[in-house]
Amino acid sequence: MKLKKLPNHIGFILDGNGRWAKKRGLKRNIGHKFGVEAVKKTVEALLEKNIKYASFFVFSTENFKRSKEEVDGIFDLLRQYLKSDVKEYKEKNVRLIVSGDLTKIPQDLQEQILNSVNETKNNDKLIVNICLNYGGQQDIIHACNNIIKDKLDFVDETVFKSYLYTKDMPPLDFLIRTSGEIRISNFMLFDLAYSELYFTKTLWPDFNKRKLLKALKEFQFRNRRFGKA
Ligand code: IPE
Ligand code: MG
Repeated sequence: MKLKKLPNHIGFILDGNGRWAKKRGLKRNIGHKFGVEAVKKTVEALLEKNIKYASFFVFSTENFKRSKEEVDGIFDLLRQYLKSDVKEYKEKNVRLIVSGDLTKIPQDLQEQILNSVNETKNNDKLIVNICLNYGGQQDIIHACNNIIKDKLDFVDETVFKSYLYTKDMPPLDFLIRTSGEIRISNFMLFDLAYSELYFTKTLWPDFNKRKLLKALKEFQFRNRRFGKA
């Protein structure tokens, strides 16, 4: 099937790493390890399909409620991912950006993130937005507080958007959530306004190019009217 309509910006709520591991009698962090592999496969497929923008909900503000072992494990995986993939991103013209409150994550990882963002800042084939210690409500509140600090007395959608962590990303066109849960879970609330939603039972570590193509096929049949008749 020829894909005529491609979303400009796809969001991924990558869910199901823990269940994937549990099914195999493995620790949750092994699920996250395979989850990173699925992110890499997805980025490859996005490049192949010439998708321009992708956001990955990697770690939510609420994920800090998990055990220290799990949280530390996720941060370690991030360190490894940035170390191996940023080199590749430079070659493949991928820009990396990060959305969320980075002040709460380990200092060395913060620095590694800022360096990775800086090293890829001139790339423009695919923009990969990693949502890290991110929450949709927190994003909106953080924006409001900065608007107050800047003493603005009026904002419209464009000005408000420029205060969000996600300011460099266009609105979401397509949201894919894995693992069978049918909810938004505080992801990019402002940007989701007119996004098409897609839910699949596939657990995130099993997500790959074939599953992405299946979702993109479904997108062909969505009739987007943005409030028009
Ligand atoms: C998603 O998988 C990854 C993160 C939120 C870090 P989960 O860890 O939420 O997996 P389940 O929902 O327990 O299966
Ligand atoms: Mg989950």
